[in-house]
Amino acid sequence: MTDQNDSTRRITAKAHPNIALVKYWGKVDTERNIPATGSLSLTLDTLATTTVVQHAERDTLTLNDAPAPREASRLFTFLDRTFPGRPSIAVASENNFPTAAGLASSASGFAALTLAVDALLGTGHDTHRLAQIAGSGSGSAARSLYGGIVRLDTPQASGDDIHLTQIAEAADWPLEVIVAVVNDGPKAVGSTEGMERTRLTSPYYGAWLEHHAADLDRATEAVGKKDFDALAVVTEHSFMKMHALMLSAQPALLYWLPASLEVVRHVQHLRGQGWPVCCTMDAGPQVKIVTLADDAVRVQFEVESLPGVRSTIRAPLGQGAERLA
Ligand code: PMV
Repeated sequence: MTDQNDSTRRITAKAHPNIALVKYWGKVDTERNIPATGSLSLTLDTLATTTVVQHAERDTLTLNDAPAPREASRLFTFLDRTFPGRPSIAVASENNFPTAAGLASSASGFAALTLAVDALLGTGHDTHRLAQIAGSGSGSAARSLYGGIVRLDTPQASGDDIHLTQIAEAADWPLEVIVAVVNDGPKAVGSTEGMERTRLTSPYYGAWLEHHAADLDRATEAVGKKDFDALAVVTEHSFMKMHALMLSAQPALLYWLPASLEVVRHVQHLRGQGWPVCCTMDAGPQVKIVTLADDAVRVQFEVESLPGVRSTIRAPLGQGAERLA
């Protein structure tokens, strides 16, 4: 680490959220935050977290211009563990989209933070190591260090770490995502608690783990061939299975709202009519619709007129986390 403790030095980093097409739900190691399954995701443009860090007399966090003491304890515990012996840091982070509503703000947040702190302290980790570090803060954050389409593989041996591969660059295949925002409040049960509840109580957890690798390989192959239909089939299967798993936890994790169901049904209807569309959902009620760039405008138009859809956000594929200043 550098001993440069200049409090006027500010580092700014930006990262985009990512949306998993093959889902991760469940951890094999809660201490190190190691996922029990691999995953495959799209890094989004348009939506972004921008984080500014600088040396300070004490640790402080502001989120979207307001002090955030609750999030601060998780964040600074993460930094204590991943940058041992670190000095005090002031962190200011802003999202240009609703925080904690199933839009993966923790993914872009931990990715931008890790990159910014690495630069501030002069630690000099490479992108793959930064992804592993970000992933130890929020599992999905590892994927946001990379752009385009990203695959995360679980450790090969115990004690090992996750492995990330960028399987397509953003420009390789012009996919777009339309987020149908049906509610912008924070989620009821966070993903860490929800995953542990599922692992401990769902009778289907073993089956989820058993069939996961096949989904990951099918999706990787579909990306390699730019086969939208094949990708749509595995995307829908993975998210439906994850929500079936969530429903089978005790107490059940029900993230859907009536409007989520309306959107999912309509997307299935459009696909039945031959439109290149499929959808996915995370630990929140928003629905993310994946389509091809040429069809994105008409898909957005269809979705925004559905009852219960408050707004839509359209995002092409974006780049990995980057330092701005
Ligand atoms: O990053 P986490 O640990 O909050 O997990 C997010 C998990 C899902 O978004 C529900 C699925 C995924 O793979 O992103």
